[in-house]
Amino acid sequence: MNAILQHDLNDLENILNCARQQGLDFLNNLENIPTSNKNTIDPTRNLNKEGLGSLAALKEFKERLAPLMVASQGPRYLGFVTGGSTPASIVGDWLASVYDQNTQAVNAQGGVSALIEFETINLLLQLLDLPKSFSGGFVTGATMSNFTCLGVARQWFGAQSGKDFAKNGISEAINILTATPHSSSIKTLSMLGIGSNNYTAIKTMEDNREAIDIDDLEKNIQNLNGKPFILISSAGTVNTADFDDFTAILQLKQKYKFWWHIDAAFGGFAAVSEKFKHLVEDWEGADSITIDCHKWLNVPYESAFYLIKKEHMHLQVETFQNSNAPYLGNPLENFNYLNVLPENSRRLRALPVWFSLVAYGKEGFQDIVENSTALALHFANELIEDGDFELLAPIRLNNVCFTLKGDHNQENVSQFLTHLNDKGKVFMTPTVYQNRKGIRASFVNWRTTENDIKMIIKELRETILDLEI
Ligand SMILES: Cc1ncc(COP(=O)(O)O)c(C=O)c1O
Repeated sequence: MNAILQHDLNDLENILNCARQQGLDFLNNLENIPTSNKNTIDPTRNLNKEGLGSLAALKEFKERLAPLMVASQGPRYLGFVTGGSTPASIVGDWLASVYDQNTQAVNAQGGVSALIEFETINLLLQLLDLPKSFSGGFVTGATMSNFTCLGVARQWFGAQSGKDFAKNGISEAINILTATPHSSSIKTLSMLGIGSNNYTAIKTMEDNREAIDIDDLEKNIQNLNGKPFILISSAGTVNTADFDDFTAILQLKQKYKFWWHIDAAFGGFAAVSEKFKHLVEDWEGADSITIDCHKWLNVPYESAFYLIKKEHMHLQVETFQNSNAPYLGNPLENFNYLNVLPENSRRLRALPVWFSLVAYGKEGFQDIVENSTALALHFANELIEDGDFELLAPIRLNNVCFTLKGDHNQENVSQFLTHLNDKGKVFMTPTVYQNRKGIRASFVNWRTTENDIKMIIKELRETILDLEI
């Protein structure tokens, strides 16, 4: 064994204790760590011939890299849709590395990690009140979940005319209908060879909505003259957290032939609250659903899952099977995750979610969702009262989409947001909504409190004064 590796092995306990202390120093100091950071590094570091050992690497990390880290896991990081790791999810994430299992097959020869994944998906179905007619698996993020679901949808589309697109390539245009897809679904159309231009944009509902207009959807379905299609619908749009009407879509599904996909990356968690459950009523009628745990379930990044109806398993295997590798087994005989999703080797990615669900239960996540939504409403009311801001859309769940008041201020929005973010106390992301420049604040973090809202409003006010807007 290499001498440095041997030394590290002998010193393992000390090394892990030092790493633990490094983590605690960060977490205990989260309040004082900025939410954005302009410091940088020269990334051209040379690779040393002889290793330094873990403790020296940790020292270099602490001195050179750790100071660049931002409080993206903290309570006032409202950009994108970003939760922060809870204690239980950190335990699960760390132990996934320690145990270092390859999550593939379910068999008696070390397949327990796939069973843990099954169990975790089963716990998630209970959390979200979804039926066992779905099977699921973990992928890195909602983008990859959309890719997985729409990959199987593409195979379903081909099968409607007896074609196997996975084997033979796409030989005809695929009909996609959607109203307000997340950019990752459009990226997925490009990755799947369908083409990111090749979808029909359905109208959205009147009165400042991003939800699909069901009448226009049906008109477009009728224009297809009975041809199959794929519907990409939304449970929580990224700007205004708007939801399509799933009850109406379910009724259409009884009349027409289509694959129904729901991107519920963060909005799916509405199902854990009695107050918001109605937003996803009838979503169990979908063929596939994307949900992302590194959003509202507050686990570390790279933790989304797909749900696809079990009745489509054969299409899923056709899409993702490793068919020319005898050493991986027969994809049609034994269930193996590497034959039903994009990746082959995977870590025990379900473990942070498993720990979170066991540790906090349904009530824990109901409380997080209801706290986030109450804070979003509170923040929006403060903005309205302030007088220098206006909402671009009503608050439907947890996202606040707002701007500086008045069209004359449109030219100031980017500068305002840059200045606000540079101050490092709060982080939000820019957007354009109905042709107006805006700002998004997404509430999903388990740590956020009323006190944070006070601080955020103070930061917004100071930014207005600093820039003399
Ligand atoms: C509705 C929706 N879908 C998909 C995504 C993409 O998620 P990820 O970046 O984790 O792949 C997001 C991200 O915010 C989202 O809000």
